[in-house]
Amino acid sequence: MSHIWIDACAVDDIDEEDLIRFDHGDQTYCIYNTANGFYATDGYCTHEEEHLEYGIVMDNIIECPLHQGQFDIPTGKALGAPVCVDLKTYPVKIENERVLIKLAIAVQSDGPEQQ
Ligand code: FES
Repeated sequence: MSHIWIDACAVDDIDEEDLIRFDHGDQTYCIYNTANGFYATDGYCTHEEEHLEYGIVMDNIIECPLHQGQFDIPTGKALGAPVCVDLKTYPVKIENERVLIKLAIAVQSDGPEQQ
């Protein structure tokens, strides 16, 4: 497993105190523009299969649209019932007005290991 920076969107693509959905491979993520900067988490709520793209961003908190479970965006921490499992978070950096997120990718092997 290796990590690479993926270009997700332009800084301007996300309004302040809002988020967008970002799909890459067979995974889905949310990217947030908060008063404290840009962050990225898994796209689905950890409570049920509900995407957070239509959730509400309030300061550093994302509220799930289905049962109003809340997570701390920078840490992914679940803030109370009904959510109890933290959201996975991903490193984010800004370069040339683009938002990049750091994702793990499986590294292809070149074949059987040589002795
Ligand atoms: S699905 Fe998100 S709080 Fe229930």
